[in-house]
Amino acid sequence: MNNVIQLFRPTIGEEEIQAVAEVLRSGWLGLGPKTEEFEKAFAAMIGARHVVGVISCTAALDLAVKLLDLRPGDEIVVPTCTFISSAHAVVYNRCRPVFVDIEPDTLNISIEDLKRKISSRTKAIIVVHYSGRPVDLDGVKAVAGTIPIIEDCAHAAGAVYRGRPVGTFGRYGCFSFHAVKNLTMGEGGAVSINDDDDYRRARQLRWLGIDKGTWERTPDNKEYWWEYSVNEIGLKCHLNDILAAIGVVQLKKLPALNARRKQIAEIYRKEFGPLGWLELPPADDDVYRSSWHIFCAKLSTGDRNDLSQYLKQKGIMTGVHYKPIHLYRCYGHQEPLPVAEAVFKRIISLPNHASLSHDDVGRIVDAVKGFSPSR
Ligand SMILES: Cc1ncc(COP(=O)(O)O)c(C=O)c1O
Repeated sequence: MNNVIQLFRPTIGEEEIQAVAEVLRSGWLGLGPKTEEFEKAFAAMIGARHVVGVISCTAALDLAVKLLDLRPGDEIVVPTCTFISSAHAVVYNRCRPVFVDIEPDTLNISIEDLKRKISSRTKAIIVVHYSGRPVDLDGVKAVAGTIPIIEDCAHAAGAVYRGRPVGTFGRYGCFSFHAVKNLTMGEGGAVSINDDDDYRRARQLRWLGIDKGTWERTPDNKEYWWEYSVNEIGLKCHLNDILAAIGVVQLKKLPALNARRKQIAEIYRKEFGPLGWLELPPADDDVYRSSWHIFCAKLSTGDRNDLSQYLKQKGIMTGVHYKPIHLYRCYGHQEPLPVAEAVFKRIISLPNHASLSHDDVGRIVDAVKGFSPSR
């Protein structure tokens, strides 16, 4: 079938293609002025003092944990309903992830379980704005006290909590600009930082620990222009100007792209609400404004896999976000997390992106309404 509706699809226009062509013609492809332009524009959008561009959200999370200077074996709590990067970043830094259960309606971190999992060994809390819906940040902060919070905003570019974009409520906010994210560069990420010293250090850590980028060393007539210091061992995970050029264009389009996702989510909520067998994600309100990266519904009866197969036969692709990550073998044997494990069996992600046409949305609505779940 050639008119398959994909679960995710980037929305790229001529402007992005032109922006990349300009960078390619400019002769400066690496970390340079476009990256800085993107960082400044993104920081202004989310209201952060600083933003550091990196190659992925995985790298942003790794960098954020590194900035905390933790000791091997220190604990970091992580919600289990997320992509594995959120916990891998903990282990990259030789710390121990402690998995936390989720709320059954939003699939965001459970504040009650967070309270149970925190101890004197807890050195950081990672929260994930799952599907783009902000977590209860006031609730998390009340439990966290002085424990630093890292916001995993991979799904949440443009999401708003109590009137303010997410990414600046914790100590660091980590964003993804991966191929299918609301703001895409194909691959890319960023970490938002408010502390000036952290910012300087993060810029070095993304570039092997070197204290000056090649762009900064380029201006004419600098004495010893080739010299730099390496004060600590960093990563090689910086953003580059080809990707940043796509990001600069996408950032301007983000409000419209997110508005379209929200419009589709509202159609689904209205059309599927009366079905009675599909539980829908909560609507936006004055406190929580989602970026609607994922539209995740739950079957209250019948088999999620049957619905997925049925829709596939009709040329509509779906997904499951996520299998709880504490169940993956790489994390060894973990304590059960009953809400996440029960919810996992019932969830299905339906296509929701700005490249869906009016007809695509109609096809999805008709197909879902035509499904009869087995009892
Ligand atoms: C919640 C979450 N965190 C982190 C990541 C990692 O992002 P990236 O692919 O940019 O490394 C993802 C990717 O999908 C994600 O969904």
